[in-house]
Amino acid sequence: MRIYRTADYQEMSRTAAMILAAQIQIKPDCVLGLATGSTPVGMYEELIRLHRAGHLDFSDVRSANLDEYRGLTRDHDQSYYYFMQKNLFEHVNIKPENTHIPDGSCPDAEAECARYEAVLAQLGGVDLQVLGLGHNGHIGFNEPADAFAKATHCVDLTASTIKANRRFFEREEDVPRQAYTMGIGTIMRAAKILLLVSGADKSDILREVVAGPVTPQVPASILQFHPDVTLIADEAALSRLHS
Ligand code: GLP
Repeated sequence: MRIYRTADYQEMSRTAAMILAAQIQIKPDCVLGLATGSTPVGMYEELIRLHRAGHLDFSDVRSANLDEYRGLTRDHDQSYYYFMQKNLFEHVNIKPENTHIPDGSCPDAEAECARYEAVLAQLGGVDLQVLGLGHNGHIGFNEPADAFAKATHCVDLTASTIKANRRFFEREEDVPRQAYTMGIGTIMRAAKILLLVSGADKSDILREVVAGPVTPQVPASILQFHPDVTLIADEAALSRLHS
């Protein structure tokens, strides 16, 4: 695992955007695995800036998102579909038909998960997967569990994740209880992985992810076994790793 230590969130975001920009320049029709949450927002802003300055062309880029809340329609302002439109897709020249996100409004979980795995296979796999990190070590919506999930599946969100995501909804009852997510196996098939972590509140879990035992109780710990992971984290997030 390569580790880039940055001074702060802004530098983390710029560094991550540079790596995505390099990926797009090396392979203009690459498949980017994209993430939501507050962590990658700054990286998306920087990508938009690079695109507006004429440095970055998304016309052949393809994308596949990690996850989506089950039960939210695309136009719900907390759906990840909506998030991606507002935070990236509307502002760059990516073709809508080249972007892929699990369909949260599909009630048939089994069918939707199988469809999404088929989409990923058709894309030929993810070249570069961006990941954020949940406070309990989740990636995508792969929550702590007794085993690593192989493929895209429907998960019951843990109480701590519901609480963490509460801030985006009016009432706690409005936070969806389930989500569709790429599995750990799906994520591990990406050729390259970029893990972004910011803030002192993630420092304990980041230490477990990087230096603790590999266990499905800390889903992101599996990344220790991936051959090409780059961690970009700010000093606050890395503060427990070097103490
Ligand atoms: C969410 C998302 C994850 C994200 C994580 C951390 O629940 N499903 O993909 O990485 O939680 O979110 P944040 O970046 O807001 O801390």
